[in-house]
Amino acid sequence: VFKKADELTRYLLQQRAKERSIGFVPTMGALHPGHLSLIGTAKKEEAITVCSIFVNPTQFNNPDDFKRYPVTVEEDIKKLLTVDCDVLFLPATEEIYPEGYAAKHYDLGELETVLEGHYRPGHFQGVCQVVHRLLEIVQPAALYLGQKDYQQCMVIERLIAVLGKQNNIQLKILPTLRESDGLAMSSRNLRLNANQRQTAPALYESLLYAKTHLANDSLEKIKQASRSDLAKKGFAVDYFEIADAHTLLPPSDKNESLVALVAASLDGIRLIDNLPLN
Ligand code: PAJ
Repeated sequence: VFKKADELTRYLLQQRAKERSIGFVPTMGALHPGHLSLIGTAKKEEAITVCSIFVNPTQFNNPDDFKRYPVTVEEDIKKLLTVDCDVLFLPATEEIYPEGYAAKHYDLGELETVLEGHYRPGHFQGVCQVVHRLLEIVQPAALYLGQKDYQQCMVIERLIAVLGKQNNIQLKILPTLRESDGLAMSSRNLRLNANQRQTAPALYESLLYAKTHLANDSLEKIKQASRSDLAKKGFAVDYFEIADAHTLLPPSDKNESLVALVAASLDGIRLIDNLPLN
């Protein structure tokens, strides 16, 4: 377990000198099997697997959401041991944002203003800030991300392209792990009460509905039906969209690669999910 950025960097430099490749799984903790599946894959593919746990303040546009984000470090460490994770990086805020850190601005194009970008202003700038710092510290050969956060994957892909000198980082995007009733695993699920937990799988059902109706119904009809069904079940729907799977912009026709994306809250607990449609 490393708490100091420079100590971790030095240690990993020695490992790279021994030709050991480094796989990196950044997280905010409250680990669940979705996170552990990323670590499991990294373990198989790289010599050394580094997981970071850091609840990054700069990516929370809502201060209450930040305050309520679950912190379960003791249990997280036990879980990391069960999957043989090699290194845990557990920095304090000053390690990531040291005195004199100048917040950078990243050009993310329209990725920054659509969907999550629209509903969480500043969120993806915060994600880029922390991931940029973490990449500088860890300098991995491969970075493992979950498709659960579809737009985040595209943002980080762009970040890596923009960073240029770190272009040789391989980005690995792995499938979303779900509970047996379809609910995408998420640290935020810990905050759902029993009733909300029963309602929550409706999000995934709305995505499956889009997939099965794609051939026969218009996109507009599918989106309206999904939104009103979720609202009836008690969700406050931020968006239910069907987008071009590469740009996340509105598609011009159904034959493009499409992805359905949804964000909705149950009594203020905001959940997101997505499903590639074709
Ligand atoms: P966090 O929400 O902790 O997620 C860490 C990683 O686990 C992300 O790549 C996320 O997509 C992946 N993940 C979450 N739920 C998953 C699931 N059900 N199946 C598969 N993978 C899943 O995403 C973040 O943290 C932060 O924004 C971070 C990238 C660490 C920057 O602070």
